[in-house]
Amino acid sequence: MNRVEGHDKVTGRALYSAEYPAEGVAYCYPVQSEFARARITGVDASAALAMPGVLAVLSSEDPPELGEDVTGELALFQHREVAYRGQLVAAVVADTYENARAAARAVVVSYEPEPHDVRLRDDHPGLYKPDKVNPDYPADTEKGDVAAGLAEAAATIDVTYTTPVMHNNPMEPHASVAMWSGDGELTVHDSTQGASADRDMIAQALGVPPERVRVVARHVGGGFGSKGTARPNSVLAAVAARAVGRPVKVALTRRQMYDVTGYRTPTIQRVRAGVDAAGRLLALEHEVAEQSSTLVEFAEQTATPARVMYATPALRTAHRLVRLDVATPSWMRAPGECPGMYALESAMDELAVAAGLDPIELRVTNEPDAEPESGMPFSSRNLVACLREGARRFGWDERDPSPGIRRQGRWLIGTGVAASTYPARRRPSQASAAVEDGGYVVKIAAADIGTGARTALTRIAADALGADPAVVRVELGDSDLPYAPLAGGSMGTASWGSAVTMACEDLVRGDGKQGFADTTEAVGAAAKLATHAFGAQFAEVRVDADTGEVRISRMLGVFAAGRIIDETLARSQFIGGMTMGIGMALMEETITDLEFGGFVNHDLAQYHVPVNADIERIEAVWIDEDDDRLNPMGAKGIGEIGIVGTAAAVANAVYHATGRRVRDLPITPAKLI
Ligand code: MOS
Repeated sequence: MNRVEGHDKVTGRALYSAEYPAEGVAYCYPVQSEFARARITGVDASAALAMPGVLAVLSSEDPPELGEDVTGELALFQHREVAYRGQLVAAVVADTYENARAAARAVVVSYEPEPHDVRLRDDHPGLYKPDKVNPDYPADTEKGDVAAGLAEAAATIDVTYTTPVMHNNPMEPHASVAMWSGDGELTVHDSTQGASADRDMIAQALGVPPERVRVVARHVGGGFGSKGTARPNSVLAAVAARAVGRPVKVALTRRQMYDVTGYRTPTIQRVRAGVDAAGRLLALEHEVAEQSSTLVEFAEQTATPARVMYATPALRTAHRLVRLDVATPSWMRAPGECPGMYALESAMDELAVAAGLDPIELRVTNEPDAEPESGMPFSSRNLVACLREGARRFGWDERDPSPGIRRQGRWLIGTGVAASTYPARRRPSQASAAVEDGGYVVKIAAADIGTGARTALTRIAADALGADPAVVRVELGDSDLPYAPLAGGSMGTASWGSAVTMACEDLVRGDGKQGFADTTEAVGAAAKLATHAFGAQFAEVRVDADTGEVRISRMLGVFAAGRIIDETLARSQFIGGMTMGIGMALMEETITDLEFGGFVNHDLAQYHVPVNADIERIEAVWIDEDDDRLNPMGAKGIGEIGIVGTAAAVANAVYHATGRRVRDLPITPAKLI
């Protein structure tokens, strides 16, 4: 199906958060900390307050009243301590955006700066083992004897990979318009990945009951994790609106987004592995060092895919975290699995080279019967089928494994492969269905962040109703609709689709007019199985032998992700994820400012993402996978599996082209030269 809201979007009728009209709206512009670690000794707002149109200045001089358990970046102006450079330390509310912005420069914040530490290193004395890693995994696991396995092995590797800070960069910046009614009810037009959860987080931050708050987000221009939790813009708009008694709009600039809307933690990852003469793993170890802020512990699950991927008698995974004077890292495009699989799948390629094996055969040889760490059976696992089908389509059999020997003019040519995996989960959701105006209307507080969720749910509902999708209308993006989990963790379609299917079935089996479903029980009763999507990515690159420029000539992804709901939407999701993986491999990097804290590059001029000109031939296909133990649709999530593994496939192809193994992303010309 084509996007049901496509026409509204291309004609500009689809409204995004900052575009909602509000009578008498005022504008709020934040003031950010100049220091990475400091104590605020005073905020002088007098000059700002005297400027044209200024209505109020908010700061820790007179902290806004917030909820008792507000934490982290949402605890606006509650403390005098600065935790990172760029943190919001004050804000100006004025009649126009320009007046607010001008007056923000006139707010004088006095600091007592302290020495800061913003550099992640794997020998940092502050590294510790977190209790859990996201979302709820043990930090460490260990079975068998890794040292003994490595000692026995015919071929081993011991390699360290590093990945930089990366930023989500949704096309639509974070923005909120907040308005309070006369009797204290709050409506926020917020750019969010989940209206229900956003409503709950905003209510908790403000210390008001959730039923007094409504979040509306009918259209969202991307999130990639950065809109999965409430950000300071929504709480700032709400407290500013309360302070001036008018609706208030906060629209963050791209530059501000870099500081306060999350990012992917940098990682330092060591992988040790060994195989016997037949290529069977005897030991695998994946150790990760990563960072969090002093405000909140965010512990990314980077080594968890090693617990899922390969059979080995000895397996150890470990996460260490250090709290630095930095903003809190957050969810970004397959958090954990994505950087973790870059390291693991690069290491598998290095191991294949060390053992003299084909990298596909090495993976097939180590295919497990059950989930390696837990021992649980897989609901379905078709990694081998993806690798085989990909090899056939890509022409892998003709590949000469020798690196650095294929040359076309100035270009060195190489190919690479990597596997991908992402958990298939779902969360409880509600939905309703009703007959209306000769058709059906389905209501659910789901979010369409540009992925096509509204369209996929229209198709799922039509299937369940036995109706033409043209007579089904899905309403989403409003916390007043039936409660739904967020668009995140690749579980939107599985979670919402289950509720939509059950609500439609309730309508059909009941009075034929109304249906409702709450999947809490069904989700809780699901069989305990290892549920994951799998895939294989193949890349062909050419590397300029003189300049080190890397171009991707061909990219192929083959996925096994349960039933595919809609071919058009799925292809778009997969190639979008793979395109982001190309960005991760070759371009995306935020540079930490070691001297002053914060980040050096703050915009799309200096933080590069792939554009159409960077993508030549890209293809995504999938194999039929029938898995009826997941959910009523038999679908696994497809939002994130496309990015997982892609960077490793590119890095492995760059090695094959050049003989140079770059273990530090992104693979820039400077590193190859
Ligand atoms: Mo995605 S990082 O699960 O929003």
